[in-house]
Amino acid sequence: MRFLTGVKPSGHLHLGNYFGAMRAAINLQDEGETVYFIADYHALTTVQNREELHTYVREVALGWLACGLDPEKATFFRQSAVPEVHELAWLLSCVTPMGLLERCVSYKDKVVQGFSPNHGLFAYPVLMAADILLYGADVVPVGKDQKQHLEVARDMAVKFNEAFGKQVFKLPEPRIQEEVATITGLDGRKMSKSYNNTLELFGDEAKFKKGVMGIPTDSTPIDQPKPVEGSTLVELHKLVSTPDEHAAFVADMQRGGRGYGDYKKQLLSKLQAYLAPMRERYQHYLHRPDDVDDILQTGASRARELAEPTLNAALEAVGLV
Ligand code: ADP
Ligand code: TRP
Repeated sequence: MRFLTGVKPSGHLHLGNYFGAMRAAINLQDEGETVYFIADYHALTTVQNREELHTYVREVALGWLACGLDPEKATFFRQSAVPEVHELAWLLSCVTPMGLLERCVSYKDKVVQGFSPNHGLFAYPVLMAADILLYGADVVPVGKDQKQHLEVARDMAVKFNEAFGKQVFKLPEPRIQEEVATITGLDGRKMSKSYNNTLELFGDEAKFKKGVMGIPTDSTPIDQPKPVEGSTLVELHKLVSTPDEHAAFVADMQRGGRGYGDYKKQLLSKLQAYLAPMRERYQHYLHRPDDVDDILQTGASRARELAEPTLNAALEAVGLV
């Protein structure tokens, strides 16, 4: 079973990314073969600043390693290190009806958000399908927002196989991480870099602390029980504590007698303790850029080996070999 997913380096990694996507993806290392890449070509559709792109790519590389990606188990590389993906993307483009892409909501969303609708943004799902099909993925773990792109990739595989009368591509199965609740951000909305309401995994410590201490709460007086239903403090605490610790935290809030500041401090120290080993590993890799480059290079070589037979079969099927 080959699992594959791409991570777009388009912002600083935050708690929502970790609990919503990274943790489950990293756990799959022990369930089967994993192929994970940094989707830097995809990031170019929205990040058009050299330094920014470098920063985000490095943060994804270090961040995934820090969070437990094991380069011995997973094939980990930069999308742009395997340019063959563009050859396949073009072959797929030629069997992709315009209507299929026009229906993609993530493109429409980006336009609504004010991004100028460049062709890369429009063709984004084609490149993503090429990523998935090139490496022969069986299962693609993604967030709900990417579900439609997965369906489009399957459509393209079917269209290609039918058009050229050969079973060149196998159909990838999505694994949508529905069971993961959406992590709430510092302003009560979904935690997202677009809302500037995130707790960054590897960012500045003072900012992190300020973020936690600034989580909005209601005006329940100190001596009164605090509401726990829908509380961001409770939700975040649950993610980083054992069931017993969490039950005690909730009971404490319901008992009343303390101000929100106290609960926030407790939450902050749980978060810090939970993240400490990852932050340590992040620092480890931060000071060993050559090791990180080696890991990505090795990953790219392995990825190329996976890509070659598929690309050759596709070129052969269309008549270019
Ligand atoms: P952002 O919303 O900050 O732009 P991305 O879209 O880059 O984040 O998210 C990358 C992955 O992290 C996606 O698979 C998404 O499902 C997951 N993710 C991001 N934010 C959250 C969140 N608040 N709760 C759960 N999962 C999230
Ligand atoms: N589009 C995905 C996202 O924004 C990233 C991605 C690129 C991807 N190529 C992929 C995910 C292939 C899964 C498979 O999150």
